[in-house]
Amino acid sequence: MNERASAGAIIEVRDLRKTYGHGSAAVHALRGVNLRVQPGEFVSIVGPSGSGKSTLFHIIGGLTPPTAGSVVVAGEDISAIGDSGRTKLRRESVSFVFQKFNLLPNLTAADNIRVALSISGRPIDGFQKDFEEILRMLGISERLTHKPSELSGGEQQRVAIARALATRPAILLADEPTGNLDSRNSLAVLKILRSLNDRFGQTILMITHSSEAAQYGHHIVHMSDGCITERSAVVPPGDAI
Ligand SMILES: Nc1ncnc2c1ncn2[C@@H]1O[C@H](COP(=O)(O)OP(=O)(O)OP(=O)(O)O)[C@@H](O)[C@H]1O
Ligand SMILES: [Mg+2]
Repeated sequence: MNERASAGAIIEVRDLRKTYGHGSAAVHALRGVNLRVQPGEFVSIVGPSGSGKSTLFHIIGGLTPPTAGSVVVAGEDISAIGDSGRTKLRRESVSFVFQKFNLLPNLTAADNIRVALSISGRPIDGFQKDFEEILRMLGISERLTHKPSELSGGEQQRVAIARALATRPAILLADEPTGNLDSRNSLAVLKILRSLNDRFGQTILMITHSSEAAQYGHHIVHMSDGCITERSAVVPPGDAI
């Protein structure tokens, strides 16, 4: 994980554009996005459906290439790298958490985490103690022998977060992580994300439709029609007048 104090942006997006399809079927999902994120920041991203939030994540996370613009993630310019470079990025620097948990149904929680580790090829040695603390924070240490169907939605999402963090990503991209959860489980997941950020300086970008959930970040980035329209700081409750 990253030291909050380290210099320079961990994500630097400049004039990013993404067009899906061609000609009359073209969809301009991103129309010139600029975004800087410092190591250790927790940034919430809000905006209407179709405004390009997930597309931005997919590009930062190396799932899809941009059409134009520059994207530097964890020191690497990923706008020009090919498929193998993007695979390396996903293995080494960036992890996703999705609305639908996306756990492998036939594997236990522990094996879901192990599979992610073995695909990444990153050893957990040296990180074992911190990871055990993360599992305790997530409250799933006792549930690791269970399969996803034997876990509640909230527990499944907490396993998905553990899986995402096991590879020690520089950046955690959470795309509506509370979208499938009731208010109690949503609150638990949001508090955990904030604690991971506070305790380990984990850089987090989180897409949410909930203005309350967005308050768990340090900053809120507003997207509309493929552009960032506003970036505002979250005022901690004690500082509000
Ligand atoms: N693979 C794709 N092929 C074609 N168009 C796509 C593709 N993915 C997204 N789009 C289009 O790009 C635009 C932005 O989509 P995106 O999924 O980034 O929005 P979003 O802000 O995440 O929306 P939501 O809040 O509904 O998840 C939408 O018009 C969408 O239909
Ligand atoms: Mg989306």
